[in-house]
Amino acid sequence: MIRSVVRGMGAALPRRIMKNADFEGMVETSDEWIAQRTGIRQRHIAADDETTASLGEAAARAALDDAGLTPDDIDLIVLATSTPNNTFPATAVEIQNRLGMHHGFAFDLQAVCSGFVYAVTTADLYIRGGLAKRVLVIGSETFSRILDWSDRSTCVLFGDGAGAMVLEAGEGAGSIADRGVLAASLRSDGTHKDKLYVDGGPSTTGTVGHLRMEGREVFKHAVGMITDVIEATFSAAGITAEDLDWFVPHQANKRIIDASAKKLGIAEQKVVVTVDLHGNTSAASVPLALSAAVADGRIQKGDLVLLEAMGGGFTWGAVLLRW
Ligand code: UT7
Repeated sequence: MIRSVVRGMGAALPRRIMKNADFEGMVETSDEWIAQRTGIRQRHIAADDETTASLGEAAARAALDDAGLTPDDIDLIVLATSTPNNTFPATAVEIQNRLGMHHGFAFDLQAVCSGFVYAVTTADLYIRGGLAKRVLVIGSETFSRILDWSDRSTCVLFGDGAGAMVLEAGEGAGSIADRGVLAASLRSDGTHKDKLYVDGGPSTTGTVGHLRMEGREVFKHAVGMITDVIEATFSAAGITAEDLDWFVPHQANKRIIDASAKKLGIAEQKVVVTVDLHGNTSAASVPLALSAAVADGRIQKGDLVLLEAMGGGFTWGAVLLRW
């Protein structure tokens, strides 16, 4: 059977780093509060010349280099983002053009923080359905552009960045020993739409709007939703937490990551954490964390890796793959 196998990873971060202490003169907060409640110590913030498209392009080029491929080898680009350069055309098409790619097709996918998990699942279906052989899956965000910088309950949490993965069609035997995407589980539930949203949009206010979040409410739901969808993925694949080599969760809050891993029985040393360095980068957070763990040699060929995310909508999901 056809499997979607990871061939390369790449990342891109804005030049400017903003430390927790840099907020102290702007809103009533402290390095101590942010670090203790979230695990975040710094985040990258895009300059005027750095956009979702430029960061996405840089991450895509890094992933192509890692794969030893060029844009000519790619059939499809799926970009997960909630902060596109423009309402339309899709930023994926802009990235396609920036890469000098004038064949194939490209589109954006919007599932907020779960975007990358949704995008990997989507790319896997295009590959297994025979519509594409090699897909660039990108998560790129510039949440700094939609933050209310006077709201301490949200502005300290988010950062900008991009991560990219090259998925390629490969042969598998149909067993859990295969390399590639092995199982996935996706969920959404719009009854929670007012707990994490942007208060503007083309069809309502005609403005871009700002991010609004009832953090405590999101937190309350997060661990249960994350663990439910992971257990569904484990049972679809016939594995347990003990079989995993690496857990790469969405990086929103270290306390959510720790509580989820504990509830699932995933050992602490198997959990990849980058929230301290990047903050919450929404759809970019999982590929940024993956890129870090690949670059430093933790994730190796043949490792069993679990991706997970949860965010606005609510949307949530998990993907199990063998590297
Ligand atoms: O990526 C999508 C998913 N999003 C998430 O997973 C985010 C989920 N939520 C969270 O991570 C946490 O709820 C937060 C980090 C947002 C907040 O942590 P918390 O422990 O739930 O704090 P809280 O909202 O209950 O607020 C505690 C106190 C409040 O003061 P009072 O009412 O107790 O006097 C807040 O006003 O902390 C106050 N507070 C702050 N204090 C200093 C809120 N933000 C700040 C701040 N600095 N930046």
